[in-house]
Amino acid sequence: MNLTVIDHPLTRHYLSVLRNKNTNSEAFRSAARGLTYTLVVEATKRVPLETYDVESPLEVTTGYRVHDVVAVAVLRAGLGMLDAVLDMIPDIKVGFAGVQRDEDTAQPQEYYAKLPDLSEASVLILEPMLATGGSLSWAADKVKSSGASNITALCVVTAPEGVRRMYEDHPDVHIVAAAHDRELNDKYYIVPGLGDMGDRLFGTL
Ligand code: URA
Repeated sequence: MNLTVIDHPLTRHYLSVLRNKNTNSEAFRSAARGLTYTLVVEATKRVPLETYDVESPLEVTTGYRVHDVVAVAVLRAGLGMLDAVLDMIPDIKVGFAGVQRDEDTAQPQEYYAKLPDLSEASVLILEPMLATGGSLSWAADKVKSSGASNITALCVVTAPEGVRRMYEDHPDVHIVAAAHDRELNDKYYIVPGLGDMGDRLFGTL
């Protein structure tokens, strides 16, 4: 299986704040940030480290630093996860992938892409809502065409349809999520889900 669902009390706590329809944008953004911290810890479990000499007050010992991690935020909802990633790995490069889904067909349509060279990088794709899987599959294609081979997707909520689609299109992409929900409704929203992540983050309801 290419999906890891985080089982941590803080993840559940923040996810419940996000699910609550009465949470305002300010609290929603804060909970998205808190939840993303818990995803980043799991998602970076396998990133490479380089070593260097670090001088403690007592002697020189081996230090470690995370090496060549790139975050790619899928616009616009992925922006709600970016600050947490930057807090935890401040010197990473950031790419952006702008995709919107056609309201009738739910197919992804690109409107912006700006990615650094990804050939040596461990890539974290920030795509909070894995619904049909169309946007994430498109983003994975995009980062692979910039040279990436080590790819992890960070999601807040996944639906069975999206996970299945990713397994078919990109079985090598590992997905780390806070919850795996029941289904999509007829408007392609995840149920129970949390509504439209972008609208709730940015107050455009
Ligand atoms: N995108 C969202 O923001 N929410 C969903 O439920 C599905 C896709």
